[in-house]
Amino acid sequence: MEGHRSIIIAVFSTSSGSGKTITAINLAAGLADEGYRTCLVDLDLQFGDVMGYLDMVSDFTLADAQRAILRDEECFQVEDYLTEYRCGDVSFAVMPPPRKINDAYQINVEAVEKIIGSMKGFNFIVLDLTAAFSTLNLSMLDMSTVINFVGVMDFLPAVKNYKVGYDTLLRFDYEESKICLVENQADPDRYIKSKDVERLLGTRFYHHLPSDDQAVTHSIRMGRPLMYSVPLSPLTQSYWQLVGRYTNRSKPHQGARQREQGKKEKSRLLSWLMGRTGWKTAQNTK
Ligand SMILES: Nc1ncnc2c1ncn2[C@@H]1O[C@H](COP(=O)(O)OP(=O)(O)O)[C@@H](O)[C@H]1O
Ligand SMILES: [Mg+2]
Repeated sequence: MEGHRSIIIAVFSTSSGSGKTITAINLAAGLADEGYRTCLVDLDLQFGDVMGYLDMVSDFTLADAQRAILRDEECFQVEDYLTEYRCGDVSFAVMPPPRKINDAYQINVEAVEKIIGSMKGFNFIVLDLTAAFSTLNLSMLDMSTVINFVGVMDFLPAVKNYKVGYDTLLRFDYEESKICLVENQADPDRYIKSKDVERLLGTRFYHHLPSDDQAVTHSIRMGRPLMYSVPLSPLTQSYWQLVGRYTNRSKPHQGARQREQGKKEKSRLLSWLMGRTGWKTAQNTK
């Protein structure tokens, strides 16, 4: 599509276990549910969790895509290397990481840039990164529209690393507006307060995600994003809000199921109205 540019959301952190993969999956699922063509790319090349968290298997991985694009860039079709995740009416594409650690070592930054660059048919591309300022991550942060910088403020060294990470992002000249600071497992009763972290960072958090161990465990066990496994969890609701901020949605979210219900109600109303009209017509013809 000419003039079309995908919005790339990089999910990044300075510690592992801070919720990057959970966030990347739920952003991708939420964006897909809102009707956007979405692709989730697992760039945790050695220990990617996307396939496990979504209980998926795939024929192809990023390693196959790289081999193909290096062999013949002209004929390369990224769709051939993507796997569809489907739940009900909603689906999004997934690019799995290499299956073997050996293959992960062979992944080349330029090839990944080209592969991501070839995903022009998608409205949103969500990148699940690792906790490191590696060459690959820096190149992906450069390509991104938004950096979703996730952190859990439960431990002083984690806060220190988050601050170092944020300062480093600014030193790399990423615009402040491109960096969305997301506090995960936010807990107002914790001894480290969000306000104090904000004072240390010199800026505000963009979004706070609450903690919900049961919801996350259930979602991973079911192999489904939170919205399909625990729709009523405050964490799910918080992800809807975050998705809404990225899509500039002004109204509260209406999920596919609610939209379907809305359609059914409309059609019931319509048949009731038609029934009434029919009844009136019948009355009139008497
Ligand atoms: N908001 C949350 N509430 C409860 N547990 C969470 C939350 N976010 C993440 N977790 C826990 O942290 C673990 C690591 O999350 P994950 O997304 O895999 O982190 P990362 O990709 O940054 O390494 C998850 O398996 C889950 O148990
Ligand atoms: Mg991860």
